Amino acid sequence: MEKASSIIPREVQEAIKNRFCRIAKNPASEKRFPVGPESAKRLGYNPTEIDGLPSSVTESFAGVGCPLALGPVREGEIVLDLGSGAGMDAFLVARRVGPKGRVIGIDMTSEMIRKAESNRLLLGIENVEFKEGPVENLPLEDASIDLAMTNGVINLCLDKERVIQEIYRVLKPGGRFYGADIILEEGVDQATVERLGTWSD
Ligand SMILES: C[S@@+](CC[C@H](N)C(=O)[O-])C[C@H]1O[C@@H](n2cnc3c(N)ncnc32)[C@H](O)[C@@H]1O
Repeated sequence: MEKASSIIPREVQEAIKNRFCRIAKNPASEKRFPVGPESAKRLGYNPTEIDGLPSSVTESFAGVGCPLALGPVREGEIVLDLGSGAGMDAFLVARRVGPKGRVIGIDMTSEMIRKAESNRLLLGIENVEFKEGPVENLPLEDASIDLAMTNGVINLCLDKERVIQEIYRVLKPGGRFYGADIILEEGVDQATVERLGTWSD
């Protein structure tokens, strides 16, 4: 498998990982964008569902929208969550696909993967697995996924086209993509793109 550092410049990759490592370990320390259960409710998640989850699942939620509101999730489907963080979306989807379905979460930050796995054990959910790695190089077979979803990761990827190509590669014919992300409406200058803080602040 191609190394993450050959896809994402190491400096940028490390800065992003450090930021999300901190959000996994100490979510209250994040001051630049909203994290946690109240943010999820403002973004359109069902408040009863959010309040019913343990705080370790919701406290590090760092999504920017509610991909689950974009369309149906059907029983028995195989779902991929790109940039799965502490696992909240993956767990909500796992309930919808049921025991015949499966959810795969991918994230490049070890502390997020560890937190998601410990949350999975806490909830006793068996149809979710988390894999550590870059979404630019998905460790999945071609045409193996019914639904790909993502919440706030593509804006952090330098090669967005490659991520979209990977999503297209792993989706089955007729597969769906539900994405929530941040987009710029105005042009952004090169100096800003090259500033490390653009990716990690
Ligand atoms: C804004 S957070 C959103 C996390 C989760 N989707 C949620 O809603 O709470 C972005 C996540 O993507 C991960 N990430 C950032 N760039 C990535 C990449 N290139 N490959 C895999 N994961 C990445 C970060 O570690 C972080 O957990």
